[in-house]
Amino acid sequence: MNRAIKLILLGAPGAGKGTQAEIISKKYAIPAISTGAIIRSAIANGTELGKAAASYIERGELVPDAVVIDIIKERLAAPDCRNGFILDGFPRTVPQAQALEDMGVEITDVISIEVPDETIMTRMSGRRVCEVCGATYHTIYNPSPRGGLCGVCGGQLTVRKDDKPEVVSERLAVYHRQTEPLKAYYADKDILKIVVGQEKLEDTTALTAKALEG
Ligand code: AP5
Ligand code: MG
Repeated sequence: MNRAIKLILLGAPGAGKGTQAEIISKKYAIPAISTGAIIRSAIANGTELGKAAASYIERGELVPDAVVIDIIKERLAAPDCRNGFILDGFPRTVPQAQALEDMGVEITDVISIEVPDETIMTRMSGRRVCEVCGATYHTIYNPSPRGGLCGVCGGQLTVRKDDKPEVVSERLAVYHRQTEPLKAYYADKDILKIVVGQEKLEDTTALTAKALEG
């Protein structure tokens, strides 16, 4: 494919955005940008941004628009975004989508990965994340070849703080209320594609590739 891909991945928490973003990023050699990952790293490093965002994340609520819009503005200005990028977890509200337009960013594709809430609730309990490089695994569906250590960098695998069941259900409610309206927003622009998340990770990957290339 020789067009630049400027892709937004939409989907509920745990739908598999981060997993597919990592795969697409390698395939097309474009950066995968996760606002959630940027904020988690700010929290781990104790920065001002981290301190301001921590309580929102722990409650499963969205961080204020102005904060994430600034993060994305700065990240998209980096030279590695010139030939395309994947946005995983941004925009999450209509004002965030409008801010992206105001920045002059021309999105080429929006893919919404759809997974029922019940599947997500059970799936999230098995997620493990590398505390060093952020690679994502699942104890059953995508285990690390190195057990409790990361297959990429050897870092320790941990459970995300916001993966407790009560926080996951709040994040799902927030998704339906604040983020799902973006499907209509991008359908109106004729760039929305729906991928039905499959039980097998590689089946979702195949459908996502088809949505991008087809
Ligand atoms: P963020 O980190 O973006 O979390 P999220 O959207 O809730 O999504 P997740 O990362 O939990 O899930 P995912 O879709 O990436 O799934 P994954 O690939 O890991 O955001 C966290 C928080 O930051 C937010 O709650 C908010 O507070 C804040 N924030 C971030 N962006 C913001 C914004 N723009 N505005 C305001 N606030 C913002 O997969 C899940 C698990 O399932 C994994 O274990 C994986 O291995 C497994 N899996 C994946 N695909 C499959 C499959 N097909 N079959 C079986 N298992 C699978
Ligand atoms: Mg993610």
